Order: sequence, then structure tokens, then C-alpha cells
Amino acid sequence: MNLTKESKAEKLTELARRRGFFWPALELYGGVSGFLSFGELGVKLKEKIIRLWRDYFVYRHDFTEVDTPLISPYTVFEVSGHVESFKDPMAECSKCHRKFRADHLLMEFGRHVPERMSIEDMKKELNKGDVKCKECGNTKWDVGHFLTMFRTTIGPYSENEGFMRPETAQGMFTEFKRLYEVSRGKMPLGVAQIGKAFRNEISPRQGVIRLREFSMMEVEFFFDPSDPACHLLDQVEDEELRILPEETVAKGIEEPLVMTVKEALNKGVIKQEWLAYFMVLSKKFLRKLGIPEDQQRFYAKLPGERAHYSAQTYDHEVLLDKFGWVEVAGHAYRTDYDLSSHMKKSSVDLSISVQLKEPIKVKRLKMNIDAKKIWKAFPDKVSGILKGLHGMNPEDVKKEIEDLGAVVVEGCRLPMDAVEFVEVEEETKVRRFIPHVVEPSFGIERLIYATLEYAYWEKEERRVVLRILPCLAPIQAAVFPLVSKKRLQKKSLAVLEDLRRRGIDVIYDDSGSIGRRYARADEIGVPFSITTDYQTLDDDTVTVRDRDTWKQKRISVKDLSEYLLELLHYNCSLDESKESYR
Ligand code: ATP
Ligand code: GLY
Repeated sequence: MNLTKESKAEKLTELARRRGFFWPALELYGGVSGFLSFGELGVKLKEKIIRLWRDYFVYRHDFTEVDTPLISPYTVFEVSGHVESFKDPMAECSKCHRKFRADHLLMEFGRHVPERMSIEDMKKELNKGDVKCKECGNTKWDVGHFLTMFRTTIGPYSENEGFMRPETAQGMFTEFKRLYEVSRGKMPLGVAQIGKAFRNEISPRQGVIRLREFSMMEVEFFFDPSDPACHLLDQVEDEELRILPEETVAKGIEEPLVMTVKEALNKGVIKQEWLAYFMVLSKKFLRKLGIPEDQQRFYAKLPGERAHYSAQTYDHEVLLDKFGWVEVAGHAYRTDYDLSSHMKKSSVDLSISVQLKEPIKVKRLKMNIDAKKIWKAFPDKVSGILKGLHGMNPEDVKKEIEDLGAVVVEGCRLPMDAVEFVEVEEETKVRRFIPHVVEPSFGIERLIYATLEYAYWEKEERRVVLRILPCLAPIQAAVFPLVSKKRLQKKSLAVLEDLRRRGIDVIYDDSGSIGRRYARADEIGVPFSITTDYQTLDDDTVTVRDRDTWKQKRISVKDLSEYLLELLHYNCSLDESKESYR
């Protein structure tokens, strides 16, 4: 049956709350926007989505997985560029001081918000008289930036500032050296991390879509920039992607082009082979979650909209009932931005060296330091300055002089002519490089919501069936005695125990009519309902009812677990020929 647009999201949210998938947290205190709590069904669904993601993105490539801190010192996010760039424009009502995302507010009032719109221009637009505060109706606004990282202090010293991580990625960059060593010098190296991230969103009002605390699944894939080819490309090059490249987005076109990976790479629409490879995996993973390909698209971020570290980004979007196109994953080519920045700040060498068979000639910038001039200017500090200067990378010194007009070492601004740069050519059998990074980054709550929305189906008026793929179903089987008789209850509990021992998520229910029990199971997506009846006591068979077709099959108890496990295994398989489970 057809549902009205609005009602599906509302009904789903109500179902999620009533049956305990998830609900707004802290209802006791009136709720705090942007925080969710998950009940058992939500926890199990989350676990299964994570398991499937690991199958696609981690295990099949032999990537490694880490778990790094949620809090890091100020320096980490200063170096990563987040302190400078992780900000949203914020409008504050000059009367009641309610605060809103300035760009979102303008869009709600029908304004076009161009790429890189400045704070001044937003202020002008907001103060034209028609943008009313939702709280008090006032039309005067102040506009500024708001840093969307949660600040904290580490230990009892208020000056020891830290941040809750807004992405799991930084932990994989700060720990890169150890990870590379542990992997015994593997390159390319894929590192995955699953965990919480925190963003102090200004005014989140989209429920599960925009949270202040959410979970991410990210891979940082490190590779040698002089060997950027993806050795798995032949597996995906004929796959089609629905894609909106930068030029298309810039023209305001919303309809994606359909092109193969090969075409997209040849035309430069996707700049990096690994980026393309992960985009295909991402498409397949979402399809497995039940989101058809024609309800997915890859949307290029324009240069001004991309995160500060990215040379190219595609948002993987899904069409949702109430929210329209929503990003569920970001695919970014982060180059060596993060590793280079951390290397520079920490002075720890994060580059990789490769031993070559034959020597190669490399050009290198060399510093000729005039110690006499330094001594003349800073006679007391000359040895410290020389030590500091020798420890610096000539490229960085040159850049600092070019950008800032001088280089400062040990707090001393050195005379311009104290350092001279010469390019020298040398033979070496060692090649050094800083790995480049491609990153697929998923938000789990948005995936949970999209999975539920695409599974939501009303078979009849008020008869909801969640058609989640069995391997993702929070509860995979339910066991019911047909009637509440001791012998049937006992038999049902024995069946339940057997299935549970085989690793199947199974529940038992003997309250209410069998019809109501089926309905309760359908509503939370239990794919198989097993009923014991009087015949069971005679011949040790049960009925297995299929959630989607409501058809039943009689099967012997001794074969039951194998039968269910096979169904679950087949629909979990990554082998596309086994996509269908019936
Ligand atoms: P948006 O444009 O929707 O704010 P983003 O571009 O900031 O998202 P990324 O920084 O690319 O998102 O983060 C990677 C993924 O993390 C997103 O694709 C999304 O699934 C998830 N995510 C990001 N912000 C939130 C949030 N506030 N609530 C829930 N999930 C989020
Ligand atoms: N790590 C990707 C992001 O936070 O945008």
C-alpha cells in the first residue's frame, strides 16, 4: 500500500521508540537534541551492520583494526586543521539569543546559499527583514562561526585543553608509525576504526540523521603516491556508479550520470583508483543493507565545501522519505595532508623508506647556513639555533621564509641572508615517501535509519513487516508454542536453546494469540517464526513461517538449525550470485 511521504518517517520513528530500537536520550529531563539511546533491537542491528561492514571493508582485504582514544589534546586537532576549519556559521537572534545554523536558516527562508558564502554576506541576507526568529519573531541577527568540536580539559589543569574526536580518523594518523611497524612494513596499509565521534551541532533537529554523538566506521587506506594503482580495480571497473561530478554539481544539476568506474577514471571524474574501488564497495554494501542502487548516488563536494584536508570528496547519498538525499558516507582523497602535518609538528619522521635494487638520482634542497651571521645577531644563542636549524626540513624553512618573510628558530628571527638554499642531485638506494590516504567514512546511525526505512513495509493496514535481510535482522528466529500447554512450552524452550547454542539470535514468546505473536515478530523483522504444535509431540517436526510471504513449511527439529543457518549464511554471502536468500 502507498504511504504518504511524511507518515513513513513518523511511523518508523514511533516503531523504533515503542519496540526499543532507539529513542531520544534523556527523556527524563525533557530530552537533549542530538543524543540517542539504543535498546536491544537497535544494539543488535548495529552489531550486524558493523559485522557486514567488516566483511566488506576489513576482512576481505586483510586490513588491520584499531581502537584509539575518544579524547585527544588540543595539539592533535590544531595540527589536523580542525581547530581552524571545523566550524559552522551560526546566527544568533539579537533579542532572545537563540542560535541557529545560519546557512540552514537562510535555506529554510528560501535563500540560495552559494558555495563559500561569507559570514558578512550571510549577515546581510539574514538582516533583510523577512527571516524571523522561530522563538520570538525578531528579525535582527548576529552572525559568526561556531567551533563544532566538544571541548574538554585533560586532568585538573584548565590549560590542558582537549577535544572529543569529531572523526575516528585522527587516531589512525597519530598511531600510524606504530601501526606500520606492527604490520611489518606493509604498504599499502589499510587501517579501520569503528567508534564514537562527537560534533557539537548547533541546532540538530533531524532526529537520528543529525546527532551530536554518533558512531563511525572508517578506513584510512595508506598507499605509496608513486604507486597509486589499485590492484583490485579489475574486479570493479565495469561496475556502474550513479555519480554527480563537480562540474554537474556546479551547474546545479541534481540528476546523476551513470558511468562505469573505468569511464569515471578515464574522464578524471574520480581522481584516484582506490577511491573508485571503495565507492563501488560502498554501493554494494548499501545494496546488501536493502537500499536499491537507484536510490543511491555519489555527490561531489565542490572545492569550497570539501573538508580542509581533501583533494576530492564524494558523498555517498541515499534517498530518504522525509529527509530527501542524505549523506551516509564520505569518500575522501586526503593525500598526505594529515601525516605531513603531524610529522611537521611532532618532528617524528612518519615517512616510509623503500630499499631500491638500483641507485636513483634524487634532487634535494640543501641549506647552506652562515653561522657567522647568526652568531653576530644572536651571540648567546648560536649553538641552540644551529642545532634547531639542522633538525629542520629545508623545504619547510624555505616555505616559512617565503610565507612569513623570515624563519624563527629558538624564538629568534634569523637574518634573511643567514640561510641560502641550493638544489643538489644525489645518488641513493633509498626512496622516501609520505603515504597518501584514501578514506571511506560511514556514519552508523544514518545507515541504521536507512536500513529500517527501506525495510519498512505495510502489508495491510496497520500490519507492519520489517523486511530486513535475515542476516541483518536483530532477531533471526522466534519460537512459539501454538497454545500455552506445558508440554508444548517445554518443547519450544528446548528448540530455542538448541538454536541459541548454534549462534542464532532467537526469542521465545507464548503470550497472546498466535496471530498477534506473528504480528509482533513481523514488526521487528524476525524472518523465521517457528511454531510447535501437537504434531510436534508425535513426529518431532515444527512449522517454519516466512516473514515476507507468510508461507509455512514443516521441518524436522533435527534439521532445523542447519536449515536456518544455511538461509542466514546464503544471504550474508558477499558472493553476488548468492544475493537472493529465497
Ligand atoms: P553532513 O554534511 O550531513 O553534516 P558531513 O559532511 O559533515 O555530513 P562527514 O564529515 O563526511 O559528514 O562524516 C562522515 C559520515 O559521518 C557522514 O557520511 C555521516 O554518515 C556521519 N555523520 C556526520 N555527521 C553526523 C551527525 N551529526 N550525525 C550523524 N551522523 C553524522
Ligand atoms: N573522517 C571523515 C570526516 O570526519 O569527515
